[in-house]
Amino acid sequence: MNQHTRVEPAPIPFIDVGAQRRRLGTKIDDAIARVLSHCQFIMGPEVFALEKDLSAFCGARHSISCASGTDALVLILMAKGIGAGDAVLCPAFTFSATAESVALVGGTPVFVDVDEATFNIDIASLERGIATAQRLGLNQKVIMAVDLFGQAADYDSISRVATKHNLFVIDDAAQSFGGTYQNRKVGMLGDVTATSFFPAKPLGCYGDGGAIFTDDDKLADIIKSLRNHGAGTDRYDNVRIGMNGRLDTIQAAVLIEKLKIFPDEIAARDQVAKRYNEALNDICIVPRMPAGYGSVWAQYTIRVPAAKRDPLAAALRAGGIPTAMYYPKPTHKQTAYVNYPVADGGLPVTDKLAGEVISLPMHAYLDEATQERIVAGVREALA
Ligand SMILES: Cc1ncc(COP(=O)(O)O)c(C=O)c1O
Repeated sequence: MNQHTRVEPAPIPFIDVGAQRRRLGTKIDDAIARVLSHCQFIMGPEVFALEKDLSAFCGARHSISCASGTDALVLILMAKGIGAGDAVLCPAFTFSATAESVALVGGTPVFVDVDEATFNIDIASLERGIATAQRLGLNQKVIMAVDLFGQAADYDSISRVATKHNLFVIDDAAQSFGGTYQNRKVGMLGDVTATSFFPAKPLGCYGDGGAIFTDDDKLADIIKSLRNHGAGTDRYDNVRIGMNGRLDTIQAAVLIEKLKIFPDEIAARDQVAKRYNEALNDICIVPRMPAGYGSVWAQYTIRVPAAKRDPLAAALRAGGIPTAMYYPKPTHKQTAYVNYPVADGGLPVTDKLAGEVISLPMHAYLDEATQERIVAGVREALA
């Protein structure tokens, strides 16, 4: 090696699914092999075993697996009969699938602002959004709260607003399954909950997957029917218009194995977040977790002055450290959604956060040495 050769630092993965796979050894291979030998690829025994395990994990009476987090939201809205003229109040600072599910069933997403400290629904803006929907002559039916980056929204406050205005609460928990709020688990926080098992989620499968959680027997029956083409009790008589929204048996088999180590992984993610918080809180705004919340850290997201964000990302990239921006363009500013209403007063916090947020590598297998490299890179770039 001559003096001009530059040794590139080894790239760090943003999420290390390979490390988890190594930990699980042959357990997943064996679980998939079992499905390959019984050949019940659709609604096989693993699907029902997983649903039982999910209920045992989160405490919901009904766990209904489905094909994705988006399908979970759509199935819930279909089951509630949401359609033309109905308002669904949701944040704009989230992944587009939140509002997309509403638009897909013909409803109107009404965008509300988020709280600067938690990134989740701001209660004052929610009230303003309800007034906006009323002024526009929409039927007010649903609050769709999102638990962004793995931390639950403030459901006690949300349910007070819901009760006051007679609204139904859906928890978009695509990023937060495994989290807790005031000693309750995600899955038990809204009237009904949707989650995603997209591979990068804290509990992810090896393809697309999702689930719905509720204690409402009637709603659960309708959702089970809807995810299977509106099936009734007579195999040849479909009783409602549904869809193909089932989870593959192979994905269920993968999830059964991953769920067994999930509590341990949640604790490890929390350690990683604590280390980041301690190492970075003097140079940027680190996530703030109010008392009574337990996050699963789907993302570890810091805030830096808008002018410093791109240079920070570039400096880290040069050092082999990936970052991501969730979400530089909030949903209400995206082409497909610009014509949907926003709460009176606009979404100033959402607009501000969109310019400042940047997420760092986060997963349960991020060792201390690697994390120190990331922290050093951030500190150097922001100095
Ligand atoms: C907040 C939120 N809602 C919904 C979804 C949709 O989930 P899926 O990708 O499984 O359809 C996601 C996925 O990223 C999400 O983050």
